[in-house]
Order: sequence, then structure tokens, then C-alpha cells
Amino acid sequence: MNTLLEDAQAAGASVGLTADRITLQGGKPLVGRIELKGAKNLVTKAMVASLLGETPSELRSVPEISDVRVVKGLLEVHGVKVSAVGDDTLLLDPANVESAHFEVIDAYAGSSRIPILFCGPLLHRLGEAFIPDLGGCRIGDRPIDFHLESLRRFGAVVDKQPQGIRLTAPNGLKGAKIELAYPSVGATEQVLLTAVRAEGTTELRGAAVEPEIMDLINILQKMGAIISVDTDRVIRIEGVERLEGFKHTALFDRNEAASWAAAALATNGDIFVGGARQSEMLTFLNVFRKVGGAFEIQDDGIRFYHPGGKLKPVIIETDVHPGFMTDWQQPLVVALTKAEGVSIVHETVYEQRFGFTDALVDMGAHIQLHRECLGGAQCRFGQRNFNHSAVIVGPTELHGADVVVPDLRGGFSHLIAALSAEGTSTVSNVGIIARGYENFIEKLRALGADFVLEA
Ligand code: EPU
Repeated sequence: MNTLLEDAQAAGASVGLTADRITLQGGKPLVGRIELKGAKNLVTKAMVASLLGETPSELRSVPEISDVRVVKGLLEVHGVKVSAVGDDTLLLDPANVESAHFEVIDAYAGSSRIPILFCGPLLHRLGEAFIPDLGGCRIGDRPIDFHLESLRRFGAVVDKQPQGIRLTAPNGLKGAKIELAYPSVGATEQVLLTAVRAEGTTELRGAAVEPEIMDLINILQKMGAIISVDTDRVIRIEGVERLEGFKHTALFDRNEAASWAAAALATNGDIFVGGARQSEMLTFLNVFRKVGGAFEIQDDGIRFYHPGGKLKPVIIETDVHPGFMTDWQQPLVVALTKAEGVSIVHETVYEQRFGFTDALVDMGAHIQLHRECLGGAQCRFGQRNFNHSAVIVGPTELHGADVVVPDLRGGFSHLIAALSAEGTSTVSNVGIIARGYENFIEKLRALGADFVLEA
């Protein structure tokens, strides 16, 4: 597997970011307007779904991020013709789908976890699929046991080989009853992408129901799939013999929206996030308001701003939808260092998602990590020696420091911490941020941030 720096350089370079480091001058509020595009965590899956169609698909509102580049490369090595139309539309033509070798898939996948989602579609199209060693952000162990177990239930044969995993389906894929031990987003997508063309009916219990998953279901229904979402995390899929291509405008990126909202709060700023919508962000908006942030919901986006006065501490627990998303906590923690009093964040989705707080402590924040489940119910990580609860004592005036980006969301929080700090900071490995934040350098510039890029 690549080093963190190699990952960062490759991710940044793929979207034209040549710098590895940014030197930022803090203390200036971020003010202005930015526009969102489609959600990273939907767009990449929608691209994979195009493999299932007999005809080409058209995906709109595709952001220029390196994770999209990775999936584009992976589709191309499997024979899918991917062409861009205008600024943000992709045409995906799967007429000539073909197998690819482990080494080629591995080279294109880089540190991405997306290859796992190619399994069902490729098994349907070609009868076999390969998955190399998987990466993704280093925020926990991130196993794929739910994925492999689900695929086995459909009738896939999983063969672990030195270079990765080879899957075959000697008797075709058949609908199955599957229950997830935890409502995993990726495993739910795996089941959806496999069940839609499997023979017979699939019942998935314990499904994740994030808005990005609902949008993937919208896409699959447009393609001809029959999927019902029942109460209590039950999804039923009736397999069909043929799916067509789709035309779809991707759901907006609510993780990016929450990140800019937190940036507005942490820097005393005022940011209009074009394309953000209320209904997918209800839980975030409640917490944002409790911390002391203000927002105005408009038809074309949401204005997030610091209304003046003191920020207040909160106790939050990250959770699957409709809970407070794990991806929202890192940027918000920066704002919590400025709140008057003790905040607690209990991370229950990933066991190691507080690595980014070391940098905030270097900048003067008072943050302690604990192994215990603080401030809420016991979670899966409680007895397992993971520092997954954070106690943040504020308010602190952050000061500049030299920090290294550890993962995507942590990286964004380092940028806003630096922009809210007194003095100068240098943030290295910024290429990782390009995995999920489109044109973040241009957006920072448009919001009045004071920085220089260094190669
Ligand atoms: N898990 C297992 N076994 C599995 C799969 C998951 O134990 O086979 C565990 C994971 O280790 C984790 C938990 O289940 O503790 C949740 O993982 P999930 O499968 O839901 O996450 P994912 O599909 O790998 C997606 C997003 C993440 C986001 C999570 C939760 C994509 C590409 N990634 O990951 O996004 O945090 O769902 O909503 O969609 C990000 O955007 O920065 C990011 C990390």
C-alpha cells in the first residue's frame, strides 16, 4: 500500500493540484458563496451502477474530485467508455465490459475502497470479479466481512489469493435473505447493486438508509429495478433480467455542506452554500443551532454564519442516518474548541476517527481522548481499547502550527483550524483533501482566505 504522502500527491495531482503544502494566515473570517455539486458518496456508486445497464447512462452534477477520477479509471479498465459532456456531466457506456487483471485494478484503485462495489455488477456481467488490497481513509480497521458474506449469500464463491480476492458465480447469483450486523453504507450498496439483477427476491435487514443510499435506489429504479424500502431498515429487491442506463442529477454533497458550515462558525464567518438542502441536513442543523451557529434556508442553498456572541458546548454522538454523521464531527470539533465549556463527541461509527485532534492540540486546543463511551449509550467500541470519545474544553484561542493531514475530513478540519488560529500555519499532504472537496483551493480563495501554496 502507498504511503500517506504518495496517496496525497496522487490524489491532488489527478485533479490538477500540484502543491503538497499550504501556508495559511489565520484570523480572517471566511465570507462569501460557494456552490456544491453531487455527493462524493453517491456519485462514485452511481458510476459503478452504470455497469449494470444495457444502454449508456448520463450522470449530472459530478464533482471534479480525485475519488471520481479513480472510479473513472476503474470503469475504463473494465471496458466502460467514460466521456465528459460540459462541466459536470459524465456519459458512461458499458457496451463492451471486460475483465481486468489484479495488477491493473490495483494500480488504478490507489487507496480507494471502491473496487469492492464492482463485485456484484461484474459478476452479473462477466461471471468473475477481482478485488485488490483495499485502502480508503485511515480512520479504523475498515473490514469487508459484511460485503463478502453478503456476496456469498447470493451464491458467489470467494477465493482469497495472494494479490487480493477473486470472486466467481458458477451457478449465477440468486436473491437471498441477508441481515447486516451493523447498518453499513457500503455493504447496503453492495447488496443493492447485486440484488437488482439476481434471480428472485432479496430481503435485506439492518440496512443503512443514508440519503445517498436512497438516491442510489432512485437511480436503480430509473434503470428498471424493483426496490421497496420498508420501515425498520428493511429493503426488499425483486431481481429483474435487464436494466437500462439512467439519466440522473446526483444528490448534493451534504458532507461538504456541513464542512463549510463549520468553517463559517469556526472563523466567525458567513458562507452561503449553494445547492445545500434542509431535509438531508436536519440533524446537522439542530446541532449547529445548539452550538450557537445561525442559518437561513433558501430555495437555492443555505446561509451559515456566526451570529456573534459566545458558542455553546454540546454533547454529540455520531451515528448512522438519521443520526449525526461521522463525517460531520471533524470540522465541527474545530468550532467546539471555541465554545465556552466542555463538549463531548462520542464517535460510534469508526473506532479511530480522532487522529486529526493531535494537530488541534498542537494549535493549543484542549482535547482529551478516552477509551470509554462518554456522553451516550455504550457502543461497539466501548470495551475494545479504542480512543473513540473526545472531551473538548473551550474556549481556546488556537495558534498557528505545522500539521500533516491524516485523512479527508480531518484534513479539511486542519485547514479551518489554521484559518481560525492566530498566526501562520503550514498544512502538509493537502492532496488528500482533493479526494472529496472539489476545487477547495479556489473556494477558499473566493471566501477570502489568506494562504500560499507550496509544491
Ligand atoms: N464495517 C464492518 N464490516 C464491513 C463493512 C463495514 O465492520 O464489511 C464497519 C466499518 O468498519 C465501520 C462501520 O461498519 O466501523 C461503518 O462503515 P460503512 O460500511 O458504513 O462505511 P463505508 O461504506 O466504508 C461510507 C462513506 C464514508 C462514511 C461512511 C458512514 C463512501 C465512499 N464512504 O463508508 O465516508 O463515513 O459510509 O456514513 O461512501 C468520507 O466521506 O470521508 C467517508 C469516510
